[in-house]
Amino acid sequence: MMFYNPEGFTLGGSPRAHLQVQGLSAGYGPFLVLRDLSLEVRPGLTVILGPNGAGKTTLLKALSGLIARRGVVRLNGEDLPTRTDDIVKRGVALVAEGRQLFPQMTVAENLELGGWLVPKAERAQRLAQAFDDFPKLKERAHQMAGTMSGGEQQMVAVARAMMSAPRLLMLDEPSLGLAPKMVDELLAIARRIADAGTTVLMVEQNVKKALAVADRGYVLERGALVASGAAALLARSSVVREAYLGAKAEPAAAPKP
Ligand SMILES: Nc1ncnc2c1ncn2[C@@H]1O[C@H](COP(=O)(O)OP(=O)(O)OP(=O)(O)O)[C@@H](O)[C@H]1O
Ligand SMILES: [Mg+2]
Repeated sequence: MMFYNPEGFTLGGSPRAHLQVQGLSAGYGPFLVLRDLSLEVRPGLTVILGPNGAGKTTLLKALSGLIARRGVVRLNGEDLPTRTDDIVKRGVALVAEGRQLFPQMTVAENLELGGWLVPKAERAQRLAQAFDDFPKLKERAHQMAGTMSGGEQQMVAVARAMMSAPRLLMLDEPSLGLAPKMVDELLAIARRIADAGTTVLMVEQNVKKALAVADRGYVLERGALVASGAAALLARSSVVREAYLGAKAEPAAAPKP
């Protein structure tokens, strides 16, 4: 399956994307949401967890240039530009909350728009690749995007972002409002994309499922990071277990039988 071919998603042999963020601050007008945030998005799949209003979307917006930011952001050692166009050209793509498809256009047309920066000849090839990677969308190529199910629309949004062959893909709550089976499918897609060579930074509210597919994670609360680490370790941490998995913390010094 082409999806597993690293060449399919990495730009001609360039190294996998590695994002370093130091002292990032961002907000809306005078209202600062993120204060002095430092984090790292290594190749693979990184998930950002946190309650409503924590600043997760704000973080993705700041990294994709949709809002102003302060601080240092480096993509493979080079300063990331601040203008959205320039950021996109560096291979950073965002699938925003709410998908933002063109409902009156077909699936294929929506995907083609995702490849607007790509030369026309190559665009056709990318489209064929997208349909290989998302066979469900191939069957629906000529259906109006607005008439697809929520999960299918989310899939179109991800496939459209992949049309630009990004090195770093940012997903804002890809499973929002979807049925459990569809949630699993979307998270599996994110995992496959990461395995195929595109670094993925994903915001998710499905904490348990997200940590099961991710390599690493961060927990954001009120604009600050409160926990981070390997996904498997985070899933067992008291911060995550108490606040997000509805479990009581294990006693700090419980004697092990
Ligand atoms: N355009 C805006 N103008 C002013 N304040 C905003 C704007 N967008 C978001 N905020 C505020 O910024 C804070 C963080 O919002 P953000 O959308 O980043 O949270 P989130 O973690 O993505 O939450 P959710 O899980 O609900 O999506 C909130 O207090 C929100 O009200
Ligand atoms: Mg959000």
